[in-house]
Amino acid sequence: MSLKRKIRELQKRRQKVLEGGGEKAVEKQIAMGKLTARERIISLLDKNSFSEYDLFVEHEARDFDMDKKILHGDGVVIGTGTIHNKPVAIFAQDFTVAGGSLGLMHSRKITKIMDYALRMRMPLIGINDSGGARIQEGVNSLAGYGEIFFRNTLSSGVIPQISVIMGPCAGGAVYSPALTDFVFVVDKISKMFITGPEVIKTVLGEEISMEDLGGARVHSEITGNAHFFAYSEAESINQIKKLLSFIPWNNTEKPEKIKKKEPKKEFKIDQIVPDDPTLPYDVRTVIKAIVDDSDFFEIQEGWAANMVIGFGRLGGKTIGFVCNQPLVLAGVLDVDSSDKAARFIRYCDAFNIPIVTLVDLPGYMPGIDQEHAGVIRHGAKVLYAYSEATVPKITLIIRKAYGGGYIAMSSRHLRADFVFAWPGAEIAVMGPEGAANIIFRKEIKEADDPDKVRKQKIKEFKDKFANPYVAAAKGYIDAVIEPLETRSLILHAINISDNKGISGPKKKHGIPPF
Ligand code: HXC
Repeated sequence: MSLKRKIRELQKRRQKVLEGGGEKAVEKQIAMGKLTARERIISLLDKNSFSEYDLFVEHEARDFDMDKKILHGDGVVIGTGTIHNKPVAIFAQDFTVAGGSLGLMHSRKITKIMDYALRMRMPLIGINDSGGARIQEGVNSLAGYGEIFFRNTLSSGVIPQISVIMGPCAGGAVYSPALTDFVFVVDKISKMFITGPEVIKTVLGEEISMEDLGGARVHSEITGNAHFFAYSEAESINQIKKLLSFIPWNNTEKPEKIKKKEPKKEFKIDQIVPDDPTLPYDVRTVIKAIVDDSDFFEIQEGWAANMVIGFGRLGGKTIGFVCNQPLVLAGVLDVDSSDKAARFIRYCDAFNIPIVTLVDLPGYMPGIDQEHAGVIRHGAKVLYAYSEATVPKITLIIRKAYGGGYIAMSSRHLRADFVFAWPGAEIAVMGPEGAANIIFRKEIKEADDPDKVRKQKIKEFKDKFANPYVAAAKGYIDAVIEPLETRSLILHAINISDNKGISGPKKKHGIPPF
């Protein structure tokens, strides 16, 4: 055969595979508002940068008439390309081919690209759209998942791992996204669950829709499994690109520095916090008044909203923000907000991103629900994560810093590098009302006018402790600052911490309160 004919044959073979599961299956995919696997990859990567591998991989299953089935590419597309001109590894499951179900060869394609990503120290992006373990392939499918989970764990903290849920992600398949750093979901399209509606009906006799069980909103607002919610695939793809503009390509690098920009003038930092300490405000406006171009990229916006986390830039450098949100539950630490903060702190620490912590909280959430839900175990994660983190840590106490909350939110005692406080900061074991009621209980009870004495004692307590100067006198706070000085002081702290280097005692690893 001449080379020309051989090339024509290659082109034909390629064309066949590129048809995926055929016209009908592709039409069904499009009708659901979904792109095909290759369209998704192409819209995410830089133009003309995609190189696909393993196009001609075939499955080896023989049972249940599988020997008669041709599954193009075995239901998954893998390759490499660039985003922002930097290399990435990517896979996208092709639902049009056997429902994107994962058989042995399908899993080997995924693990091949995962190995590339780790070896070349570049981000891994996985687009999930699959019916889960290919039922006909039995234990081979389970083995495939096991190999993926193992690699997710190996790569954790070395390269960024991003999961995009653009279709079903059913059964054990959900554990790969759960092991990765960031999970993106799309309204009405993403479905993530361990046991589907059929199983629930059989075992529990309950009817539930896939949407109510594990739709995009469920994971963005209730479970916290998802980090970014979008209304369309196109919006989700833009979110992924934006995230990648903030983070470094691996754990040996720092995030790319871009041109510095001043915050927008509409965010007036000295006019955000109300004079009355019982009134709330939105901590995101404080962040926007501090960061370059007032551009704050929030993560897990819809879940545990009493804690705000996300990326912004200071002087062009990426910063991770961890902030109490007085607008929701007064910004308390509870089970979910502790998990949210702790995981993000560990992410920033693993990827060389300095952390700025904004503090305004009345402490840990009281109540039997929280105690029984394990607020001790979950709350401990915040202490662990901050103590362990060796990236530059800068703390600003805006208003309340009470009790365990004061310690947990990146205090000097957990080795914050810089602790600043605004003049309205109140640092104490608890709020003045609670404190006065406990320590002066006898005096108040026995007084002729208990109300008057209570008020007097609250004032006494406030005058003594509800200010930043007691902590400043001990050096627990480095500087009491005016709100208008905030950006320049934090910027200075970040710049002089560029070469921070510390190391703790040698160990295999700690035992965090997972
Ligand atoms: C083999 C599968 C499949 C699977 C779907 N297909 N899931 N084939 N194994 N797991 C096939 C279908 O037979 C069909 O083939 C094609 O994919 C499209 O599927 P439809 O059902 O027609 O699509 P749709 O109506 O959109 O429903 C999608 C779905 C449903 C909700 C995902 O297919 C479904 O419930 N699948 C099973 C989900 C599941 O329980 N998976 C196993 C989980 S257990 P044809 O030839 O008709 O086009 C698991 C354990 C892993 O994953 C453990 C790891 C630790």
